[in-house]
Amino acid sequence: MKKVTVRVPATTANLGPGFDAFGCALSMYTCVSFEPAEKLLITGCEPQYAGEDNLAYRAYCDALQAMNLPVDGVHIHIDAQIPIGRGLGSSAALLAAGALGANLLHGETLTTEQLLAVTTKIEGHPDNLAPALMGGLTASMMEGEPVAVNFPLHPDWIFVALIPDFPLSTAFARSVLPQQLPREDGVYNISHAALVLKALETGNEALLKLALQDKVHQPYRKSLITDYDAIAAEVEALGASMCISGAGPTLLCLTKNEEVVRALAEKLPAVTTKNWRVVPLKAVAQGAAACE
Ligand code: HSE
Repeated sequence: MKKVTVRVPATTANLGPGFDAFGCALSMYTCVSFEPAEKLLITGCEPQYAGEDNLAYRAYCDALQAMNLPVDGVHIHIDAQIPIGRGLGSSAALLAAGALGANLLHGETLTTEQLLAVTTKIEGHPDNLAPALMGGLTASMMEGEPVAVNFPLHPDWIFVALIPDFPLSTAFARSVLPQQLPREDGVYNISHAALVLKALETGNEALLKLALQDKVHQPYRKSLITDYDAIAAEVEALGASMCISGAGPTLLCLTKNEEVVRALAEKLPAVTTKNWRVVPLKAVAQGAAACE
């Protein structure tokens, strides 16, 4: 009987001023296998996530519906390396896996754009899903349906994920954001976002440090992240750039200097009150794909 396994990268969303728009696929993965079965069976996750609400299964069902196919029994096995509730796209990875798994098992009639549309309906915004499905650095927008494109990225960037031992709910991190913004904050973010893309493309560390600033979400969210100020001060002292990864609480330090990774691993325990893992990641060009 046919079985497919898909591997989906972790993703960082926003990249500072690119709120709900920018994203990048990173070298940490969740693998999910799909095998036709008598009924639904989900293994490899906590029992409370093994029901019909499971995100991989919801996307699997919605992809079948998009193909005008009935929902069938399936055994889904999840091997998740992407930590849950940390701002590294664990939900997007499950959604991308579910939709791609359904597509691969049922004739591959959906395009990547259609997989993005199906999964964005569940997640609400496409900024993690676009890089999870397409790989690389992406920007996406909603025009009824999601529209996403890749941007060039300098190969030397190290995306240092500083991952704390506490989660932060995306819904809560969105609830603290204002519904309306002053026009100058909109202008600030549009201009900074454009220059973030150029800095990431050219590998210009000084430009990225200036451009990665934001007035739409990070000022409202940083108080939700214990140790934010202490870590920001260390990153600043090392001359690197930092933003909140997605809705947090992971903080993302961007550098081209291996020494910054070593210095953060050495210094953070002394200045923080929580346990922070220092995980150097690289951007990956490959999005969700079947494992060989
Ligand atoms: N753009 C989203 C946010 C990413 O910052 O809330 C989290 O899903």
